[in-house]
Amino acid sequence: MELKDVRRIAIIGAGIMGHGIAQTFATSGYSVTVTDTNRDALDTLFDRIGKNLATFVEAGLVTEASVPEILRRIRVAATLEEAGSDADVVIEAALEDFDVKRALFNRMDAACPPHAILASNSSSLLISDFASEVHGQDRCILTHWMNPPHIVPAVEVIPGRHTSEETYELMCALLLKVGKQPVRVRKEIPGFLVNRIQMAMMREIWSLWDQGVASAEDLDMAVMGSFGFRLPSLGPLLSNDLAGADTSLRVGSLILPHIDNSTTPAEGFRAMIEAGNYGLKTGSGFFSHTPDEWADIVEKRDRILLRRLKCLYG
Ligand SMILES: NC(=O)c1ccc[n+]([C@@H]2O[C@H](COP(=O)([O-])OP(=O)(O)OC[C@H]3O[C@@H](n4cnc5c(N)ncnc54)[C@H](O)[C@@H]3O)[C@@H](O)[C@H]2O)c1
Repeated sequence: MELKDVRRIAIIGAGIMGHGIAQTFATSGYSVTVTDTNRDALDTLFDRIGKNLATFVEAGLVTEASVPEILRRIRVAATLEEAGSDADVVIEAALEDFDVKRALFNRMDAACPPHAILASNSSSLLISDFASEVHGQDRCILTHWMNPPHIVPAVEVIPGRHTSEETYELMCALLLKVGKQPVRVRKEIPGFLVNRIQMAMMREIWSLWDQGVASAEDLDMAVMGSFGFRLPSLGPLLSNDLAGADTSLRVGSLILPHIDNSTTPAEGFRAMIEAGNYGLKTGSGFFSHTPDEWADIVEKRDRILLRRLKCLYG
């Protein structure tokens, strides 16, 4: 199959990730079929995508006139078998659970055309493991989108042990075509690139917060106002080169012995979760807000990220 032959996309799971992935493909002209075992996720699908698209219109990233057409390209299906029957590419974005993904991949294998690429959006599981029973594992691949998937540009592309070069290149080309930046991860390692790097930073932030070194507000500002400010346009390694890589080595050698190297998240963070403070989901986490305030924060986040996206690619 070549890129020009890809016409129909199926999305399994219409949650936080699935609905945004569906929106991305539909916006780029693809026919998208979405399925979910939860009726509510399908009933609210068009409303959620419609709201996202309204923010895109406001940011000047899509025209108002194109919105009905984008929505018309999306349909819902009652079952995976129905959604996948005529798909060229299937993206599984269901529960992060090994047995669930294994069962879904076996069903995708049986239900989808033999030429279809079978992709998973798993954040942590390895495709070689949960797709090991699929016939033709050369067409299985992991694409790790980031939240919010309809906005964040990078998608990590991770091959399994048996993924063919053809599947890999086609997936990268497809992601580029829908406006994403494929990040080529050549080895199948837990956490891939983004979560490993992110978790290295989060381990230290959770630890500093737990030790009471700074407030949640100040910890966020320490990142956002410093290296975080540079990061959208300057990667950390180029930044090292510009600052003098020899200096970076000296500073790293002095500081690394002092930073957290535990293999579990800070105890205080675990205690916060055990007390039922999950953040937006429960009202309180590192920060406390009313439901309306959280809704404003999410809307503001999307607005800011879309402005940045427009600066980068608009
Ligand atoms: N949320 C994130 O920030 C994020 C980022 C990257 C990757 N991921 C990964 O993407 C996947 C989806 O995450 P999410 O955040 O969208 O979760 P979510 O809970 O918001 O959505 C998952 C959806 O899958 C549905 N589902 C569960 N079992 C199913 C099945 N057997 N068949 C069809 N649908 C089923 C659920 O009803 C739910 O609507 C997970 O593997 C997750 O690890 C999540």
